[in-house]
Formats: sequence, C-alpha cells, structure tokens
Amino acid sequence: MEKEFDVTQTTITRDNPFRLCFVCLGNICRSPTGEGVFRHLVNERGLQPYFFIDSAGTSAWHVGEPANHNSRNVAEKHGVELLSRARKFGPADLDEFDLILAMDRQNYRDILNMASTDQQRARVRTMRSFDPDPEDGNVPDPYQGGLNGFENVYQIVYRSCSQLLDLLEPRIERS
Ligand code: 4NP
Repeated sequence: MEKEFDVTQTTITRDNPFRLCFVCLGNICRSPTGEGVFRHLVNERGLQPYFFIDSAGTSAWHVGEPANHNSRNVAEKHGVELLSRARKFGPADLDEFDLILAMDRQNYRDILNMASTDQQRARVRTMRSFDPDPEDGNVPDPYQGGLNGFENVYQIVYRSCSQLLDLLEPRIERS
C-alpha cells in the first residue's frame, strides 16, 4: 500500500493555503463539478483565503472548453456555478498541489504513472475515498449518458467534497 496523504497532518494558513486539483478524463464534466462544488462549500463557510482550487483532465481532448452544458445546468439547479476552462493535467501539477483528486480508478492510475517520487504519489487520492458511501470507488463518467448520470455525479461529488472539507476545516489556523 502506498503511503497516502494524511489530512490530519496538514496545517492550513493564509500564507500556506491548501491546494487541491480535481482530475478526470476530459475536464469538462466530473472534475469541473468537483472544482465548482468544493469552491461553493468553501465560500459558504467563509474559508476562501485558505484554499486554492483547480481542475484538469488526463486527456487534452477538450482543452480550452467550458464545462459541459449538462454539468453546468445540473450544478446551477443546485446553486453552483461551474466556471472552469479545460486544461490537461501534467507532471508539474504533482508538485503544485497538496491533494490531487482522481475522479475514477483509471484517472488515478494515469496520474500515478506520471509521478516519479513517493512524495508526489502520496498526494494522489480518489474522490470517492472521501465518500461516506464509496461503492466501487469511481465517479461514473456521465459524458455519453442521460441527465440522470450528471445528477448522480453531482450528488456523489457533493457528498465527497463535504466530507473532505469537514476533514480539512479543523486543520485551518485562522488569522
Ligand atoms: P469527464 O467526462 O472526464 O468527466 O470530463 C468526459 C468528457 C469527454 C469524454 C469522456 C469523458 N470524451 O470522450 O471526449
């Protein structure tokens, strides 16, 4: 078992904000939802100075595109705006972020394949390792399916992000 990032061992300050990157395949459906939902929760709790939040894709297929219209519509229905533009995840991101959240197990393997040090590998987790009901560990790819798939992604991501922020919030040294 790889040594994994331990949220209880981190200290978050204004000078040392916690940096998260949500990663999926296209960076137009699942990871923009993660980025948008996490930012929404951070804003609701007034914790903006303590986090840097981004997303990326393991493929370059949709680089420059806004989030998928179904993802945006479902998020908007829940009061969450998705403002990302797709970019490709690269090896340098493994040093830029404290926590890299893979939306499914394939994304997780693809990211780990870019890593060259144990420190980089320890920063990579699946989104659903923070889900109270993780099922098979994947946030299912909604791209080819109907609207239900997008709502399902939203619910999974919302649950997981809430749990993650609950773990991180006590690590903040407020100033
Ligand atoms: P995402 O969804 O990885 O959640 O952004 C997908 C978007 C596009 C494709 C696959 C998945 N695609 O094959 O183009």
